Amino acid sequence: MDRELFRQLLTPTGQDLLAQAAAAYDERSAVDLASRLRRSYPGDLVAAALTQVALRRQARAKFGEEADRLFFTREGLEQATPAPVATYRASRIMAALRASDTDDGDTVESDTVESDTVEAGVDAAAEALQSGTDADVPHAARVVDLCCGVGGDLLALARSGLSVTGVDQDPLTVEIARANLAACDLTDRARVELGDATTFDRSGYAGAVADPARRSARGRAVNPADYSPPWWFVEELLRGTACVKTAPTLPHELIADHVEAEWISYRGEVKEVALWSGAFRRPVGVRRRATVLSDETSVTTLTDADDPGSAPVSDPLAYLYEPDNAVIRSRLVTGLAARIDGALLHPRIAYLTSTELRHTTLARAYRIQEVLPYDIKAVRRALRQREAGTVTVKTRGLDLDPEAFRKRLGARGPHHVTLVATRTQRRGVVLVVEPVSTSETAH
Ligand SMILES: C[S@@+](CC[C@H](N)C(=O)[O-])C[C@H]1O[C@@H](n2cnc3c(N)ncnc32)[C@H](O)[C@@H]1O
Repeated sequence: MDRELFRQLLTPTGQDLLAQAAAAYDERSAVDLASRLRRSYPGDLVAAALTQVALRRQARAKFGEEADRLFFTREGLEQATPAPVATYRASRIMAALRASDTDDGDTVESDTVESDTVEAGVDAAAEALQSGTDADVPHAARVVDLCCGVGGDLLALARSGLSVTGVDQDPLTVEIARANLAACDLTDRARVELGDATTFDRSGYAGAVADPARRSARGRAVNPADYSPPWWFVEELLRGTACVKTAPTLPHELIADHVEAEWISYRGEVKEVALWSGAFRRPVGVRRRATVLSDETSVTTLTDADDPGSAPVSDPLAYLYEPDNAVIRSRLVTGLAARIDGALLHPRIAYLTSTELRHTTLARAYRIQEVLPYDIKAVRRALRQREAGTVTVKTRGLDLDPEAFRKRLGARGPHHVTLVATRTQRRGVVLVVEPVSTSETAH
């Protein structure tokens, strides 16, 4: 889709077409729908509208119902931050700006911000942005979203109450981000400029948010040196006040001492590691954090301040815990052990065990029903006794292909069983476990 076609989608004719396409859209009959619409509208506009409707359906996974009024490119949607994650980060930024007047702050170039200045800035933003100048918006309430894309983060930042300028180097993306702000009634808080993040003048802003493109033209994840804008620019931003979104696989060695790295998991998947610096890094002192967003409102977090750095090691007790990947990637498994009063099954394997069930969304909990030796005959026998037919095999710390192991078990009964093949400090074991329902473990 080019910019001209996109602009046509925003006209009353384009909006009528989009509404008709959305009302009648069904993936299987999209071809029939296209020919019907082409009788009344130009073919290229029909194609653009149908693509938009299809992208909006996919976008519901990230943006919920709001997706139905937003605009996307395929790439822009793939790269957009899911709304709950963006909202969480935006609320951290807002809270940090409000709090930074009371903190000591051992930060690099930390800005001192009065909380009432933030409030005043929010009020002034509406008027100033509408009148085309933001000169009256206090610096404290302004952030710049470099690499704003179609606006996943931009919308959340504006909604949190900040005055935001989005910047992107792609002209179509800029127009889409502007349309999305308008669709969400946020043009009084935010605007979007076409430009290069690396040369954009950030002096009028309390801090910067950046989400560099992390995929090559072929869709492959790239190494930080090849981010766009590149890693040297990320380092430059992090010497001031910034929040930079990077890939969850970011090597720990790249994380500077004055930066907090936060691995954020949503719906069971680690989406990103957010790097926090300057006045955005609150509380100061934390270097690693694991955060699990389990739904729109539930946030559980664990930091290196909670981590004694080691944990007891024990044979399997009554419960087994499989830490969320955010905990594992942030190397906070021993911190989680301390939080749940648990022990490691093995010093180098990310499974925990405890005598009592502890409530946490930072790990998946299982009741241990039986502890078997890592021996195929013993496992087969146990499965026969349990009349197991479908078997889920999980494994860590063993050189084992779970699918091949499952096939070798030859289970044929009516019941389902979950097995965890792993090691204790003394031997290989296979645990027969039952998942504890999330309602039993959620806070
Ligand atoms: C990962 S996407 C941003 C997604 C956005 N945070 C969201 O939630 O929708 C990265 C964006 O950075 C833009 N970009 C890449 N290099 C840039 C540069 N040097 N200056 C400005 N924008 C850039 C790309 O055009 C792309 O839209």
